[in-house]
Amino acid sequence: MIEVAGLTKAYGDRLAVDGISFSVDKGEIVGFLGPNGAGKTTTMRVLTGYVSPTSGTARVAGFDVQEAPIEMKRRIGYLPEHPPLYREMIVRPFLRFVASIRGVPRKEIDARVDRAIERCGLQQVAGRLIGNLSKGFQQRVGLAQAILHEPDVLILDEPTVGLDPSQIREIRQLIKSFAGAHTVILSTHILAEVTMTCNRVLIINEGRIAADETMEVLAARGGRTRRIALRLARAADGTEGQLRAIPGVLDVRREDGQEGVFLVEAEGVRDVREQIAERAVSQGWGLLEMRAVTLSLEDIFIRIIQGEAA
Ligand SMILES: Nc1ncnc2c1ncn2[C@@H]1O[C@H](COP(=O)(O)OP(=O)(O)OP(=O)(O)O)[C@@H](O)[C@H]1O
Ligand SMILES: [Mg+2]
Repeated sequence: MIEVAGLTKAYGDRLAVDGISFSVDKGEIVGFLGPNGAGKTTTMRVLTGYVSPTSGTARVAGFDVQEAPIEMKRRIGYLPEHPPLYREMIVRPFLRFVASIRGVPRKEIDARVDRAIERCGLQQVAGRLIGNLSKGFQQRVGLAQAILHEPDVLILDEPTVGLDPSQIREIRQLIKSFAGAHTVILSTHILAEVTMTCNRVLIINEGRIAADETMEVLAARGGRTRRIALRLARAADGTEGQLRAIPGVLDVRREDGQEGVFLVEAEGVRDVREQIAERAVSQGWGLLEMRAVTLSLEDIFIRIIQGEAA
């Protein structure tokens, strides 16, 4: 559905995207993960025909973005970093307007607009001024305009940025519901977002692809060590040493500024939680909490880079 080969985009002498290649199959949800300035937005702008590449090619929904931009644009929905909304318009008329300029046949417009309103949970705000809506609802209107014409490919640039946790959850579920019928690329710098929404991740760093993995493979990569956070009511002086003595534990340190919180690094192949719990009980440490700590983007990056070097 998306084929990118040797894509490069330079702004002056700055290479925003540096020779990336990847492909996305129909029905996949792929996450573009990378830090600020990695080149995510630039890649999306090339894929949507907003900017032309310096070199390399991109085909989206069967059409070359440079040779057949109009045909390509008919088949994609795009939610840019800053959603293109007319603040002085009311939600439903705005969506009708977008549907008509998107070339939806006149007699289908009402049905399509209703469907997009329903899918994006906009029923209760359909009669309100876009400019007065909360950020989350504006983001939903942005998503609704992107899916109105039932595109084959959806390109979403940081779709959950600026939303509150419950809105984030709803938008993620919405995006997940697009899988299968639509092919989706979304960008984010939040690893958890990719884990929860996508089946594949492309890690982009400094304009290059640092990893192209399914979520299972990525988790396995990150799984060479596990990290566990413990909260103990009555930690003693010897607690660190005793935890370290458990087979499979690689390192233990106290969390700065948090009384009784310990971070345990363990070998990925061993589950040391049971031994930790047993020891906590036998020593009377008062185990209040034990949880797996998700690896940060930085951790995954470092592991991937180390893996490549090895
Ligand atoms: N129009 C432009 N002119 C000059 N440089 C640009 C332009 N757009 C992007 N860049 C540069 O290209 C690089 C990649 O930017 P891009 O916006 O693609 O990153 P990003 O991965 O989307 O980052 P973020 O997470 O902050 O959104 C950055 O160094 C940026 O400064
Ligand atoms: Mg960006």
